[in-house]
Amino acid sequence: MTLGKNNPLRSVSWEKFSHLTPEEKVPLFCQENGWPYHVLIAQQFDRRLLDRVCNLATKTRKIAKTKGGMKFLQDLCSEKRAMLYFSQPSSRTFLSHYAACQIVGIKPAEVRDAHTSSEVKGESQEDSVRTFSSYFDMIIMRHPEGGFAEKIAWMLSQTDRPVPVVNAGSGKDQHPTQAVLDIYTLQRSLEKRRGGIEGSKIAYVGDLLRGRTVRSLAMLLTHYPGVKQYFVAPKELQIGKDILEFLDRHNVQYEITTNFESVIPDMDAIYMTRIQDEWDKPGEKTFDNSAYCLEPRHLGVLKESAIIMHPLPRRKEIPVEFDADPRAKYWRQVRNGMWVRAVLIMMIFDRDREIDRYYEDLMTE
Ligand code: CP
Repeated sequence: MTLGKNNPLRSVSWEKFSHLTPEEKVPLFCQENGWPYHVLIAQQFDRRLLDRVCNLATKTRKIAKTKGGMKFLQDLCSEKRAMLYFSQPSSRTFLSHYAACQIVGIKPAEVRDAHTSSEVKGESQEDSVRTFSSYFDMIIMRHPEGGFAEKIAWMLSQTDRPVPVVNAGSGKDQHPTQAVLDIYTLQRSLEKRRGGIEGSKIAYVGDLLRGRTVRSLAMLLTHYPGVKQYFVAPKELQIGKDILEFLDRHNVQYEITTNFESVIPDMDAIYMTRIQDEWDKPGEKTFDNSAYCLEPRHLGVLKESAIIMHPLPRRKEIPVEFDADPRAKYWRQVRNGMWVRAVLIMMIFDRDREIDRYYEDLMTE
């Protein structure tokens, strides 16, 4: 059962909610069983939840291989409808959520261009989303303002028709579902290569100041003992202090460096990012990131067991010559995103145990 009017956010005033730390907010976003009702911040995911999502994603992938399995999946949430409200551009996050909805039988609808909605007539975004909640059973939203999805989740919780909210990217702040699919990709790849994520060395490279995927992933990786995180960026685009303080609080080892070449040979995973110049001020010169790009010669320097990741879209950070290399996992990330998002939707609607049952029957056939 999802929570509806029983969701714990309902009993908290905006004044109180807006002063809580992310960790204090986490229980307000959960169902009674501890699984997410809203998916808003990376801090919601502990190791038990991450393991559960990864396990369900693998089961769902396998179930979806047959026509009978697809029919079973498509029946899971077939009475539900979802609104995908994306007020920032997106290819992967939008389409993978759309495809995830289709996999579990949810009927998706979209508003991607506010110029086609009554926002052009002066309607507030809050009123727009409240309108969506009258017609749909969940809101999946991307927004340029950090924290806006949380505000919407709180606002809807005060109404007669509260619905779950999924943060599909919020400003320069967080991209929790991307980070979970990144964890699934790391787990699948590093399990085969070195037995798991634990104890690995992972470098993030590029625009770490404005790249929300790295901020969320850095927090999730604190749940894997022994992981050392390397933040490789020019000084002006280095990761925010809040993330480093988070790592300090969790006793996580990390290094900050401007020297990409020096870290490449030692890494188990390299997570490339592009320059997020959509956040540049008008007229501002885009940063030259040549020193933070992979080059074909790096293929010989990188460990045979290492993997290369990128949330995409890419520009020149990874040459296309890398795509055929077995260490390139960024296209697998794209595909994994669909399975992970299907799982999160199933968990929100409390349908995940049906996956376990079907999978057990499948395995004993
Ligand atoms: N990784 C990611 O968020 O890609 P999109 O911007 O295409 O959704």
